[in-house]
Amino acid sequence: EAAEKGGYDHYMLKEIQEQPTSLRQTLEGRIREESVSLESFPPGSFTDVSTVQFVACGTSYHAGLYGSHLLSEGGVPATTHLASEYAVYPPPIDEDTLVIAVTQSGETADTLEALRVAKEHGARTLAITNVVGSTAARESDDALLIRAGPEIGVAATKTFSSQVATLLLVANRLIEDVTGELLDGHLDRLESLRSLPSFVQTGLDTSQAPAVADQYLSDGHFFIGRGNGVPVALEAALKFKEITYEHAEGFPAGELKHGPLALVTADTPVFVVCTGRDASKLESAIREVQTRGAPVIAVAPRSMSDIIDTADETLTVPATHPDLVPILANVQLQLVAYHAAAKLDRAIDKPRNLAKSVTVE
Ligand code: G6P
Repeated sequence: EAAEKGGYDHYMLKEIQEQPTSLRQTLEGRIREESVSLESFPPGSFTDVSTVQFVACGTSYHAGLYGSHLLSEGGVPATTHLASEYAVYPPPIDEDTLVIAVTQSGETADTLEALRVAKEHGARTLAITNVVGSTAARESDDALLIRAGPEIGVAATKTFSSQVATLLLVANRLIEDVTGELLDGHLDRLESLRSLPSFVQTGLDTSQAPAVADQYLSDGHFFIGRGNGVPVALEAALKFKEITYEHAEGFPAGELKHGPLALVTADTPVFVVCTGRDASKLESAIREVQTRGAPVIAVAPRSMSDIIDTADETLTVPATHPDLVPILANVQLQLVAYHAAAKLDRAIDKPRNLAKSVTVE
């Protein structure tokens, strides 16, 4: 087993470090000069689609949230649903609905059940998965592989990044087919996506996460963001509680004042996911928690200098397209969770009560 961990103490750390490689595999051959090339989906594949619904659980649900945000911003009506709820309380679905199941394993019972409900209602279905021949891939009309390679750690890391990268590609195609127009600035985003693996590498090589994890370990952590920083705030909190067993909450920064602020004390480190957008709104959230004595750790590109000056600490990420910065921020927060859990000597690769794949509803 030690050999399989490639010299790392845990599979989770190995898988975090593998992300430049796994992302290269995800993107390989899928970005052409000026367009996206998705094996089974030539241009025009989705012209009949009017609405997109993502169904997923856990980390994959956060990737789904990222996906629906990208689509909505591009003019395609899209929502993301927790599969367990969708299966029992489905929203309106018809044959113009594309239901995308995001599932690393392709075997999560709740997600499979949601897919079956979608099919019963006549929806077209697509599985975005890491496992060739998985049940989700077989039962959906189409499947698209994220090609992240096997993931052993129960806490999903590299597969989240590959899911989001895949969704960025799919979003381009869907926006073009459904709206009949190319996404504004789509070439810029594609160009940045091509460089994503090397940005992730830079982020890994220069990370201050071990020191931050050490300094800000507490029994209550907040993770906030806006826009596509929100799924990453949720994902970071999930990762943190899964492997450290300490309390962590993630939510949109604007919600602070509607409840969570009551919990903020000097012992509540607040991690702020900054994408390059929404600087002034995030700054006011930072001041709100600082007034209550909370230390603020910004996860931000260097270009957000006002945020960096206001925060108590910064985890810097390479500056790139704002739709990609959250992926880079997430890598830093994976490392924070990992190092905090290592300090607490937790069973990082197999946290108590959790399973890699949950095959019961
Ligand atoms: C379990 C795992 C999570 C995962 C979720 C969904 O709860 O512990 O890491 O995100 O299942 O799994 P899936 O294979 O459908 O992505």
